[in-house]
Amino acid sequence: MAEIIREDGLFHLRNDAISYVMREMPGGVLAHLYAGPRLARVNAANLLAHAGMPADGTFSVQEMALDKLPREYPSFGLGDMREGALTVRAADGTTAVDLRLETAEILETKPALEGLPATFGDDCAALRLTLKDAHTGLKVELNYAIYDDCPAVVRSARLVNGGEAPLTVTRAFSLCLDLPDDDWQLITLSGGWARERSVYRRALVPGEQGVSSRNGASSLQASPFLALARPQGTESAGEVVGAALIYSGNFTATVAATQYGAARAQIGINDRDFAWQLLPGEALQTPEAALVFSDAGIGGMSRGFHRLWQNHLLPRRWMNRPRPILLNSWEAAYFDFDEEKLVSIAAAAAEMGAELFVMDDGWFGRRDDDTTSLGDWDVDARKLPGGLGRLGDRVRALGLQFGIWMEPEMISPESELYRAHPDWCLRIPGREDITGRHQLILDMGRADVQDFVVESVSRTLRDSGASYLKWDMNRNFSNIGSAVLPPERQGEVPHRYMLGLYAVMERLVRAFPDVLFEGCSSGGGRFDAGLLYYVPQYWCSDDTDALRRCRIQYGTSMLFPPSTIGAHVSAVPNHQTGVVTPLETRFAVALGGTFGYELDPRALSPEEREALRGQVAFASETQMLRLYGDFYRLVSPFEGDMTAWMSVSADRAEALLTVVRDLSHPNSMPPMVRLQGLDAAKRYRVRETGEVYGGDELMRIGLCCPLGNGIAASLVYRLAAVEE
Ligand code: DGJ
Repeated sequence: MAEIIREDGLFHLRNDAISYVMREMPGGVLAHLYAGPRLARVNAANLLAHAGMPADGTFSVQEMALDKLPREYPSFGLGDMREGALTVRAADGTTAVDLRLETAEILETKPALEGLPATFGDDCAALRLTLKDAHTGLKVELNYAIYDDCPAVVRSARLVNGGEAPLTVTRAFSLCLDLPDDDWQLITLSGGWARERSVYRRALVPGEQGVSSRNGASSLQASPFLALARPQGTESAGEVVGAALIYSGNFTATVAATQYGAARAQIGINDRDFAWQLLPGEALQTPEAALVFSDAGIGGMSRGFHRLWQNHLLPRRWMNRPRPILLNSWEAAYFDFDEEKLVSIAAAAAEMGAELFVMDDGWFGRRDDDTTSLGDWDVDARKLPGGLGRLGDRVRALGLQFGIWMEPEMISPESELYRAHPDWCLRIPGREDITGRHQLILDMGRADVQDFVVESVSRTLRDSGASYLKWDMNRNFSNIGSAVLPPERQGEVPHRYMLGLYAVMERLVRAFPDVLFEGCSSGGGRFDAGLLYYVPQYWCSDDTDALRRCRIQYGTSMLFPPSTIGAHVSAVPNHQTGVVTPLETRFAVALGGTFGYELDPRALSPEEREALRGQVAFASETQMLRLYGDFYRLVSPFEGDMTAWMSVSADRAEALLTVVRDLSHPNSMPPMVRLQGLDAAKRYRVRETGEVYGGDELMRIGLCCPLGNGIAASLVYRLAAVEE
């Protein structure tokens, strides 16, 4: 049960699992006292002693006292020599901010965030602390919530110019977390196209370290997330704190060990090139950040995030619901298709038992390759003479749902849209436009562009009757400038873009509540908690090679549950790596997410098609366990050549184990994989072998996993508790 306790100048947010404690210091400075596993009560004397404060509890900012104080929402320039969370340039040109607590309110319900995705739910306690800088009149509302059912605190800041002169915000992070020691290792997720979210772990050292994006999207290269784990901590043991930003644009996530041996972690909108004008009376809302705590290792943190997103962020309509098993046309046909070809692929998909056929890129304008037509969302009658309606109807007549691809935020210079509205794209007048994948980016901050995108997507959904839309976004930002903003507001363009995108998504998901939206950005280039508020699943990577996917999905699961991870079986040789892996291994890996296919089933042998029928049946039967069970990573592909993970049902009566090995090891014993999350007192039957084991032995001794020879051998075992 979540609660907020106010006593002895403390604000103690607490539920059954965790505590988060702040203190109002004399004079109104807001100190951070504790964040971690639940505490019964807290005595602030520790904090005062640790931060070098007088034992009588008095406090003054003199003598650079702020430099040692753990702080809740710090700024640089008044004695704290660490990086701050907030920088605001006043009319006099100075940038120091001195926030003092004015009011504290325990809220009846958690307020929504203006224009931004955020967690929601009634089963929480919410707190608003309002602080003020007397010099400028700036007010900062710090909003907090703690849910009954998650080891998490979410928080954000809302800046209001309560003064009489304009202010320029050049940094407004969502979260600062001051920790009393620096005995941590930093974990981040980084990569690139076709190798998203590799896990990196490194020692904490003095100086800022972390990850960031200025790509205009959370990016393929880094995720808006960091975790701190104790050096000796593992997947299943040790203290861990994770921070994630519910945002899809430029971000920064950093941590530094301080000169006094403490640590400061921060996450928020990237402040590089960011400058937001705040006129008197105007407000700026930061994205929400989520902090998750675990004293059961990194896996515990991941399950904390999974639960937070599942219970409080993902679209309700799709929660705890089966997802359609789909076949996507991209790797089956690329741009080379017509109506007959698509219908024949769909017919083969229907025969396999698939539930949804998705037509990918290439159906509009004159899009025979990626050089043209983005923005011209009219059907290409050369390929689809009967229009979207007839194709949709023919697919539905096969007993399948119909889905469609769009890349709504983009514009090809070679398009009717560009000829009509050359000013609709991001650009810097007088500079050469720089294309990426031959395309430019629409200025989503503009109201007319937002209306155009909503109208184009709505018309496409209506004309096709599609029940699924893959929303793609395939390039990084460049030439960042908007035709509708004055010079002093150009530093607002990337964030205004995100606000525009979210406004569009909000309108569309409200208008089409039954449509399943899947996110995509050159694969997993914008796979973040911001977009997951609108799209319950995300195409995880363009790399569909089973072995590469082990790493990508393993890293993704640090933060996101299988129900969000788009994972498909593709053809061999793999189109990205050229590697041939066994069909059963491609299947085993794709079971780790929202399952589907990315191949031409007509090109398969009768035996393979028969195998696919069995796969679809298995994927469907195990889907609720796979997507919504508790997820445990067992063996890391970043530490060896094996991957293992498992899902366990909430009642711990059922589990599904997946093990994959890159290469066979001649002259070795079969691996023993230690399971997790089972009930130690229960006995489990492994369906595939018929053997029965105690939960305790499976977790302590492990399960012998006889993998076959060759490249990418795998096994999938189903475990069921045995009635005694
Ligand atoms: C990038 C996506 O990641 C692919 O799956 C595919 O939809 C292409 N775009 C289409 O252009």
